[in-house]
Amino acid sequence: MAFFYENNRLKIGTPDASADVESLARSRTAGPVYIYDLDDVERRFQAMNKALGDVRHTIHYAMKANSHPAILAKFASLGAGADTVSGGEIKRALEAGIPASRIIFSGVAKTVAEIEFALKNKIKQINVESPQELERIAEVAERLGSRADVAFRLNPDVNPQTHPYITTGFRENKFGMDESFMPELVAILKSHSDHLKLRGLTMHIGSLLFDLGVFREAITKTIAIHRQFVAQGFPLDRLDIGGGLGIRYETEDASSEFSMMQAYGTMVRELIKDLNVELLTEPGRILVARAGLLVGEVQYIKPTTNKTFAILDTGMHHLLRPALYSAKHRVLPVVAGVGKPNRYDIVGPICESSDFLAKDVELAPLKAGDLVAMADAGAYGFSMASRYNSHDLPQEIVVSQAKPL
Ligand code: LLP
Repeated sequence: MAFFYENNRLKIGTPDASADVESLARSRTAGPVYIYDLDDVERRFQAMNKALGDVRHTIHYAMKANSHPAILAKFASLGAGADTVSGGEIKRALEAGIPASRIIFSGVAKTVAEIEFALKNKIKQINVESPQELERIAEVAERLGSRADVAFRLNPDVNPQTHPYITTGFRENKFGMDESFMPELVAILKSHSDHLKLRGLTMHIGSLLFDLGVFREAITKTIAIHRQFVAQGFPLDRLDIGGGLGIRYETEDASSEFSMMQAYGTMVRELIKDLNVELLTEPGRILVARAGLLVGEVQYIKPTTNKTFAILDTGMHHLLRPALYSAKHRVLPVVAGVGKPNRYDIVGPICESSDFLAKDVELAPLKAGDLVAMADAGAYGFSMASRYNSHDLPQEIVVSQAKPL
């Protein structure tokens, strides 16, 4: 549990050690604020770690979900690695204390400068998305006189049944490579054998997934290709199965997520039991989404002939998910109101009609000055925020054991 009500006031932490969300939010000079519960992140990491059990594994937190330095430092202290997708993320991970030996680098558009930075820092692995990229990595490694440890990203062509913008392992997506790329990849490996070492395969099929059957299908396809590489004389010693486990935004009950992590771990351990590999995973959302809230202040209540708008000082520029994916985050009044509920559209200050945080939600009457929180905003919240319309970015407060850090 990261957030709950006590005497009608929203709290962060656990009933034994909690902090008051309104006091935290008002402790900042002004403006919207993200608040994160670091202990919830730790509990979830431990649950995932336990689910993967005693197989040799490393959890590489997908830091695109939330790269707050305190969260990264927590993962570093727990022994996690990082899945990064830019030179900027590699730098941030290193600064937070995640060792290079636990950093992997994914993404379709790695520039020469980023590859150079990754190789100079001797990161663990580069996840390769195309033969053209593999050539580029070989050239940079040769120039630096180093050797790149690489994994090939497979596109297993499964339909993960999620929002089309966040599928990645379907044949129509720009990510990864299918079996037809193999001969070309092998040829490049062979002609640059001093500067490239293939460590394994990697896949990531999409985000916000709940169907373990889809993971099973994708991992099974990946293992078949893994075996083909081994048969061709490449002694692969890693298998990276990406991230993607979802959270149930519609409910505060997170228990099904813990059982899903457990079932996922059991399934994965069974699937890889005959392979002598280190298992790599890249979870993002499941570890941090529940740990964060975005708190904004009602500026105006605007009743119109059609509907009533609660207009906040925060909106799509701070939490893009509702506008971009029609995501539905629960709306939590920071102090529970009283009176007959009204229906509101919760909107922001941005000059676009796509600037909404929630539509048609039923809440006790709101008034200007009230604080409202968007739940489960710890993943892909601040990390996707922008300064559109020249607004400031929201502030961030990290809380542990009921105390702001
Ligand atoms: N690994 C790779 C290569 C990825 O591309 C991603 C996410 C992850 C791991 C972590 O996935 P997760 O466990 O968080 O599902 N902005 C969207 C989500 C985009 C995910 C992109 N890739 C959202 O707010 O729903």
